[in-house]
Amino acid sequence: MKKFLLGTNWKMNKTLAEGTDYTVNVSEIITKYPQFEFFIIPPHTHLWKLKELLDSKKSALKLGAQNMHYEDAGQFTGEISPVMLAEIGLDIVELGHCERRQYFNETDETVNLKTLAALKHQLLPLICIGEKMSDRNYGISKEMLAKQLKVALKNVSADEIGKFWIAYEPIWAIGVNGIPAETPYVEEIHDFLRSVLIDLYGPSGKDVPLLFGGSVNINNASEYAQLTNVDGLFIGRSAWEPDLFEEIMILVGDVVK
Ligand code: PGA
Repeated sequence: MKKFLLGTNWKMNKTLAEGTDYTVNVSEIITKYPQFEFFIIPPHTHLWKLKELLDSKKSALKLGAQNMHYEDAGQFTGEISPVMLAEIGLDIVELGHCERRQYFNETDETVNLKTLAALKHQLLPLICIGEKMSDRNYGISKEMLAKQLKVALKNVSADEIGKFWIAYEPIWAIGVNGIPAETPYVEEIHDFLRSVLIDLYGPSGKDVPLLFGGSVNINNASEYAQLTNVDGLFIGRSAWEPDLFEEIMILVGDVVK
């Protein structure tokens, strides 16, 4: 049976010492919740150490990076390549988070190049898409999301299904100023994204894991988790303390099939 996905991007938070404590704690906690597949996405500087730590504990907690370049190597000061991430033995690389798009010129086209590079190096791309509030107000959310999804997945074949995940994160729902999305809206968009994936891949489009993110918290997590086309939750702030994260595990654990 497919496990429900539950994970967190730390963004630019936690020192290595704090991140190590968190990881030790969370890798203990998750042993109580076998119905989930868990992942954490720390800053790049923490990845080697946390990978060694997780391996030494034989932890089921998956580890990912927050970004990478699409070239294997080259004159790209400050960037990290897929080869370098693969050398650590990471499971996941997050691509196209809205903060990368907003502050660091990430585009649908670079997300596509990075997706292809990740797959080439056996990293699982966690591709983030999301519309702005102005898109929603103009009634063009679905058009914007279909475009992001189709460009990101250009030249990604049906053989890769299961090796990439999609996270829908409405930009207006993310972060401290975010407004949590209404559950019926999340349902409508996830159903729509599923139909786009089926258009692209045929019936196997049903097997692409679709996560939801953006102000997921103890008040809304179990409602989102019950939606047919929500296969996981991608959480920021509400998972940055192990005990708060565990509250979400308990609530969602009660409702996932
Ligand atoms: P948030 O972040 O849960 O703190 O809103 C979500 C995200 O950016 O993925």
